[in-house]
Amino acid sequence: MKGIVLAGGHGTRLYPVTLGISKQLLPINDKPLIYYPLSVLMLAGIREILVISTPADLPNLQRLLGDGGHLGLDIGYARQDEPVGLADAFIIGADHVGDDSVALVLGDNVFHGNAFYDLLQRNVQNVDGCVLFGYPVSDPHRYGVAETDAQGRLVSLEEKPARPRSDRAVVGLYLYDKDVVDIAKNLSPSARGELEITDVNRVYMERGKARLVDLGRGFAWMDAGTPESMLQASQYVQTLEKRQGVRIACVEEVALRMGFIDPAACHRLGEKLAPSDYGKYVCAVAEELGHRPG
Ligand code: TTP
Repeated sequence: MKGIVLAGGHGTRLYPVTLGISKQLLPINDKPLIYYPLSVLMLAGIREILVISTPADLPNLQRLLGDGGHLGLDIGYARQDEPVGLADAFIIGADHVGDDSVALVLGDNVFHGNAFYDLLQRNVQNVDGCVLFGYPVSDPHRYGVAETDAQGRLVSLEEKPARPRSDRAVVGLYLYDKDVVDIAKNLSPSARGELEITDVNRVYMERGKARLVDLGRGFAWMDAGTPESMLQASQYVQTLEKRQGVRIACVEEVALRMGFIDPAACHRLGEKLAPSDYGKYVCAVAEELGHRPG
């Protein structure tokens, strides 16, 4: 399976901050926002990843993530000149997807939960159609809302409905089989002039090939698109990290635990970041998992 991180957009809800820097490079507690969605793809075992962003922001993202080799990844980059919709990711990324299945994750979504690794591993195997993830929210009218039958098959999808049929928001992580590229290429822009991901999902739903997996109450999903939600996400991460002494979405640690890099390589990455507590943590994890200093 291939991966795409969609990390463009104007980030208008964060103006004036995002006039000078891309939203996905802003910190959520101790690390750039993009580490959170990137680590989701890594936990799913995905190593070939395309990062899509604006022409202005791509150089900064590239400076941060490079070719991904240091994390045992293969990261490529593509530009989206204008934010014409989430489904545009599959048109821009058509060559990257090729004949494979693909996971799309939004560059400003933060996920955290027990057994997320198992949940991802269970669902990325043999994707036939599409797999969406639903999360119960108190304000469903702000999101894409999904309704399923007893077997978890999607029966309705509504974008920001005035009267939601369920409380389950569709989160910014989507798994598709290879048909997604053709489906995206055949979409017409919506009333707001965008290539909507909901329209892609509706095609799969009409084919009877869309599943919704519930993330459940014990899970945290945040979309860090406003000053308030960025702060909330930072506070959530800070509270957990401080209390438990482990870090969320530390990409070096994820690469090590997934077997993409060995403890010595992880330690070297930590040393480069060592003045920060984050760097010290990376070194400590490498030592705990087998690196012998000296
Ligand atoms: P949004 O939060 O919908 O858009 P935005 O980031 O531009 O913010 P705002 O609404 O405040 O103007 O986008 C969700 C994610 O998808 C975010 O990481 C940006 C990205 N995105 C693109 O890269 N290209 C697009 O065409 C769209 C619509 C979003």
